[in-house]
Amino acid sequence: MGKVWIEKIFDDPEIYVLRVDDGKIRYFEAVWEIPEGITYNAYLLKLPKATVLVDGWKSDYSEEFLKTLSKLVDPAEITHVIVHHTEPDHSGTLPKVLEANGYRAKILCSAFAKKLLENFYDITENVNVVSDGERVNLSGKTFRFLMVPWLHWPDTMVTYLEEDGVLLGCDVGGGYSMPNALDDSSDSVVREYLPFVTKYVVTVIGHYRKYILENLEKLKSLPIKAILPGHGLVWRRSPEILLRHYLEVAQGKVEEGKVLVLYDSMYGFVEKLMDEVLKRLDGFGMKPVVFKFSDSERSFVSDVLSHVPSSQALIFGVSTYEAHLHPVVEHAVRLIAEKASYEKPVLVFSVHGWAGVAEKVMGEILGKTHLKVVEFVEVRGGKTEEAKIGEAIEKLLKTLGR
Ligand code: FEO
Repeated sequence: MGKVWIEKIFDDPEIYVLRVDDGKIRYFEAVWEIPEGITYNAYLLKLPKATVLVDGWKSDYSEEFLKTLSKLVDPAEITHVIVHHTEPDHSGTLPKVLEANGYRAKILCSAFAKKLLENFYDITENVNVVSDGERVNLSGKTFRFLMVPWLHWPDTMVTYLEEDGVLLGCDVGGGYSMPNALDDSSDSVVREYLPFVTKYVVTVIGHYRKYILENLEKLKSLPIKAILPGHGLVWRRSPEILLRHYLEVAQGKVEEGKVLVLYDSMYGFVEKLMDEVLKRLDGFGMKPVVFKFSDSERSFVSDVLSHVPSSQALIFGVSTYEAHLHPVVEHAVRLIAEKASYEKPVLVFSVHGWAGVAEKVMGEILGKTHLKVVEFVEVRGGKTEEAKIGEAIEKLLKTLGR
């Protein structure tokens, strides 16, 4: 069982965080490699005349969740449960909580979440739909519900505690990893953690990037003093750092000189070509970040994706495999296309033995994205084609104004 954290994070209103560290997970959503793990955060608000539970944990931790919750309150005394988002990493413990509660609590959620609660758990009783901007007064505190669709599902909403400037964000503001602190009070903890926010945003929410920008715009006018997300750190010192970071990831703010280089190499031919590419990039003072799929190495696609937003350009080295694109690199490229379709220039180097098909498939995949291919360079087998490489890189750098 993962480490459980339970701490009062605000005195007025009295808010507790209930966090579990999931270090046994290997693939979030059965896709994303996360050796760093993830936390599930729920919150409990003990108000004079209401006890409000906000979200929950993944169902694997149901027993532990009830045990943890019971240290703070008798579950039967919970009067309201806010369900921000029904993805089971946040809602999985709800059936057991309701059972322990005797189904007395009022569930507050979006109209879409109401449908999903029925689909997932057959929960239909006491489900109260709230609308965008609706304010509900609970024990003298104003809970304002804001719909933030596609952040991460169409059901998703956040809650803003008006008198206190606290935003309960669920997926909004969350990140992977199990930080060794509960909140953002240490600069070094924040520094280490932010790349995992990037990784979560791109892998989980990246497909809906335009909605991140739209929804952030919606939150912009709120005086936010703290953000309590469903994963990772609680932000009660500098929530503006998190909001700025979110915006920069969604916008694809680049690091000067950073180039993402991704290639497959079965027998070293592509690697030889890419070594030449890297040598040239180095000569121009660029800072390549390299991800490789070979017979001895396999990069994590989740890491590849998390480096796309901050890269100025992307360079792919791909091979033809059975009249198609190499399957492992195809998996990575398709996920980049789905999740990280930023307006960035791209170079594609493709290598073949007797018939080149990889270039055509890359063109089809990338053609449906915002990524813009500056040049395709087709190379036979073990040839290096230094002149072609040099020209292509110079063309790419020109698009970057270098
Ligand atoms: Fe953390 Fe969309 O669930």
